[in-house]
Amino acid sequence: MDLIPATALFIEQKFADEGSGHDWAHIRRVWLMARRLAIASPDANPLVTELAALLHDIADWKFHDGDYEAGPRAAREWLRTQAAPEDVIARVETVIREVSFKGVGVATPVSSIEAALVQDADRLDAIGAIGIARAFAYGGHKGRALHDPAVAPVLHDSFASYQKNTAPTLNHFYEKLLHLKDRLNTDAARAVALKRHRYMEEFVAQFLAEWDGED
Ligand code: ADP
Ligand code: NI
Repeated sequence: MDLIPATALFIEQKFADEGSGHDWAHIRRVWLMARRLAIASPDANPLVTELAALLHDIADWKFHDGDYEAGPRAAREWLRTQAAPEDVIARVETVIREVSFKGVGVATPVSSIEAALVQDADRLDAIGAIGIARAFAYGGHKGRALHDPAVAPVLHDSFASYQKNTAPTLNHFYEKLLHLKDRLNTDAARAVALKRHRYMEEFVAQFLAEWDGED
């Protein structure tokens, strides 16, 4: 089978019953969005972009004891079984290493156009209606409160403190989600983010109004 459909099927089966927000539906959306963003970036290598989008969450550090190499390693192992070219494997590994958000105060530079596209696609899936739903799904998975006005948001300036965070889910909007529109690499992604960002701002305002007994 061709490498891209084979990888899509492998990931779909691997993530079939994942309830943490890193499900096949998320990966499928990131894959579709990365392909869409690539239309405006003709220099991006389509094979590297699509494989990296499909494999970007294959072994997230959050679920592997903070092992940041688990993802790149798992991607390499899979791509080797498919006899993918070594240079493609190396480029996909680099994208996976660079994709994650690590805290508002932590720079997450990308070293390739393919990483720029996959990082943007992943970030777009963390905002808007889906982003809101994913944040509360993640918070529920971790047993977090929806909101606690006594817990102030923290603008994490190190990956270590961002990782240790156990704050109520509404804080995640101030600590990450509302910043993502300013942390995108491409104009195509910034255009998509406009509507999603506005929708999230309205959501947070309405949430806080209802919290205090307003309409
Ligand atoms: P990314 O792939 O952009 O690095 P993550 O893997 O950190 O994103 O997060 C996956 C999903 O879970 C995202 O939608 C993200 O916003 C959500 N999430 C991560 N951490 C939290 C948190 N502390 N509270 C609520 N949602 C979270
Ligand atoms: Ni992701």
